Amino acid sequence: MAQLWGGRFTKETDQLVYNFNASISFDKRFYEQDIRGSIAHVTMLAKQGILTEDEKKQIIDGLNGIREDVENGTLEITDKYEDIHSFVEANLIDRIGDAGKKLHTGRSRNDQVALDMRLYTRDEIIELDVLLKEILEVLLKLMKENVETYMPGFTHLQKAQPITLAHHMGAYFEMFKRDRSRMKDIYKRMNYCPLGAGALAGTTYPLDREYTAELLDFAGPTLNSMDSVSDRDYLIELLSAMSTVMMHLSRFSEEVIIWNSNEYQFVDIDDAYSTGSSIMPQKKNPDIAELVRGKTGRVYGALTSLLTTMKGIPLAYNKDMQEDKELVFDAIDTTKGCLALFTGMLKTMKFNDARMEESAKHGFTNATDAADYLVNHGVPFRDAHGIVGQLVLYCIEHKKALDDMTMEEFKAISPVFEEDIYDAISMKTCVEMRNTIGAPGKAAMEKVIAIEEAYLVTE
Ligand code: ARG
Repeated sequence: MAQLWGGRFTKETDQLVYNFNASISFDKRFYEQDIRGSIAHVTMLAKQGILTEDEKKQIIDGLNGIREDVENGTLEITDKYEDIHSFVEANLIDRIGDAGKKLHTGRSRNDQVALDMRLYTRDEIIELDVLLKEILEVLLKLMKENVETYMPGFTHLQKAQPITLAHHMGAYFEMFKRDRSRMKDIYKRMNYCPLGAGALAGTTYPLDREYTAELLDFAGPTLNSMDSVSDRDYLIELLSAMSTVMMHLSRFSEEVIIWNSNEYQFVDIDDAYSTGSSIMPQKKNPDIAELVRGKTGRVYGALTSLLTTMKGIPLAYNKDMQEDKELVFDAIDTTKGCLALFTGMLKTMKFNDARMEESAKHGFTNATDAADYLVNHGVPFRDAHGIVGQLVLYCIEHKKALDDMTMEEFKAISPVFEEDIYDAISMKTCVEMRNTIGAPGKAAMEKVIAIEEAYLVTE
């Protein structure tokens, strides 16, 4: 057992208590951030004359040495230490002796851990953003290539109106674009440095908190020391934003699973992203999409869990807050993993264009357009709706699509129909006529694609 405290204790900690309390098994993950924060802290201490230049140099060399040795594998972070802060400090003292004991001047583990977690999260938000941008790039490519790939659009999982694959992919583009903007938002709001808050009430040393914040690329220091050590809002915001990313991925996964089914066959998932069955040789299962959908629950769970942990905590730091780490780490790993895997699957997935168009044709997705045709020829909409209802019934009975009806069949139901009905209800017309911004028509879609392309260049 290696602890940073013990002076006022007369008994050794019980081993079970020690294990229960320790956090090294998971906070070792941010050793790099802990060292980075400490280097900034001593740099500031020296500038303020609290440490000498020589002490600063010894400490920074020692800390860099620890980082290198951890990275090249010669120094192992073991559970002999209570937490990562104790590990770094104990190793520093081993290496450089008395100067090492000055590292913790004007600092508490409360503001230290608050800093480490923020640094860690900030780095991860950047990685999440990179992954989100990657999926957006794949989506934009699919959009560009498929402005004329017709497919049915659904409501209630029933074929509704024809759309294009570009338009469908565009819907996900908007979702992941909002996810990126949420990440950016969180980053901005959380980017303040808590170091210098001490245990809860600042310190009596003349720290320069603005300087430490600047050294660590923060927008400035946090403004209330009690809040600084006990604020976990940014983690809750991040869990919420990641839950939304997962919700989007899960909805998309669900569609891929449906599209990949024997009944639909809209897509063919690449062999590299599907698995077989141990008993049924014909099977090619969409396991990756199913796992992404399944893992969504873990991330939602982390959000609920941290909200619950935080709800009854009086100011300022309480040990409950240590619970933030495993939850957030797992949620970040899960979201990043799912994003990367899903993007890979999407990139290699083949869309069965002919099958999608055929499906749109046979689902009466052009029924609204047939009604609009009648309206354009002077029939009131309510009557037109009824007439097309009769057409649909007729087609169901005779197992055909609206476009396959003969002129005589059309006329038998309403004399208003003329030869130009075929053009009016063709898949191409149905989609192309929808050209208000945001609709699937080619001209509208191309405008949106240009906007999104410019967005990806600048952001
Ligand atoms: N492992 C602790 C945490 O994650 C570090 C802070 C400990 N502070 C304390 N007063 N015991 O929250």
